[in-house]
Amino acid sequence: MKSQDYRFSVAPMMDWTDRHCRVFHRHLTGRALLYTEMVTTGAVIHGDRQRLLGFDASEHPVALQLGGSDPRDLAEAARIGEGFGYDEINLNVGCPSDRVQNGRFGACLMAEPELVARCVAAMKAAVAVPVTVKCRIGIDEQDPEVALDAIARGVVAAGCDALIVHARKAWLNGLSPKENRDIPPLDYDRVYRLKRAMPDVPIIINGGVPGIDEAKAHLQHVDGVMLGRAAYQDPWRLLSVDSEIFGEAAPHATMQDAFEAMMPYIEAQLARGTRLHAITRHFVGAFHAVPGARAFRRHLAEQGVKPGAGLEVLRDAIAHVGARAPAEAAA
Ligand SMILES: Cc1cc2nc3c(=O)[nH]c(=O)nc-3n(C[C@H](O)[C@H](O)[C@H](O)COP(=O)(O)O)c2cc1C
Repeated sequence: MKSQDYRFSVAPMMDWTDRHCRVFHRHLTGRALLYTEMVTTGAVIHGDRQRLLGFDASEHPVALQLGGSDPRDLAEAARIGEGFGYDEINLNVGCPSDRVQNGRFGACLMAEPELVARCVAAMKAAVAVPVTVKCRIGIDEQDPEVALDAIARGVVAAGCDALIVHARKAWLNGLSPKENRDIPPLDYDRVYRLKRAMPDVPIIINGGVPGIDEAKAHLQHVDGVMLGRAAYQDPWRLLSVDSEIFGEAAPHATMQDAFEAMMPYIEAQLARGTRLHAITRHFVGAFHAVPGARAFRRHLAEQGVKPGAGLEVLRDAIAHVGARAPAEAAA
């Protein structure tokens, strides 16, 4: 089994990290591990698999995140995901939405470490690619010292290959999913302690990491860092990941070069009937502190949504951007 490099990843984000977003991110960093949006086992098993699971070959390494709590269904969904070519299967034990709680999966599984361990064991038995878990440090009244240990020890004993920890609790009653990403306080030290207690298990920290410099600081304590909102809302940050984290050259020196390289992909998608906006909606934060960034955004927002909008809309939007933004300036 090929072992994964966990040093830097972009978080799974519903409605955000779809296949077009991931192709865009891959043009900015060749090395980050990318995650899909969460897909439920029911959707994988009974839904339109090509639409839900299809992805572009350029996205590797890419992990499929599953939501579910039935070991047999998770094993089946993991097997299907592996068949599609995903490099890792991840189980969501962190999402706090009501819809997810009713399905008895996501963050509420923090209260059921034995069930989560059985889920992981079933997934491990079904696939050869790494199986990982993304969890919180606890929920509601749980003591994170106890709750995180219980989840971590259970899944590791079941064969879990790495653990991603969003370093705050989820409060399941009273907070919206969005509030649950901001209000419960971050506790990075709790995740560092988990790493010290489990030196042989890759531990990846997530939550509130604003940029690449801060990610590097976390790497002094844990094996990997996962960025969510900072990566999506300010994708220009990803241009410096390969050099700063992996000591390698980025695939493209500038955002403009990345867009140019992405044109054939966009053209092929348009030819298949994908609307331009479905792709360019992920580009909103592409330029930062560069003259013309606002005109770029406005052009895409106004012209990109029109029926039949084609590549020229993106080209015209890019033409508004004055200076070329080098990766170093972006860091
Ligand atoms: C729009 C959005 C959708 C999200 N969807 C998922 C999801 O499908 N699965 C998951 O495990 N976490 C999801 N998350 C949580 C992120 O993966 C991440 O844990 C959280 O945003 C904290 O990291 P950050 O502070 O770097 O953004 C989502 C977050 C956002 C902002």
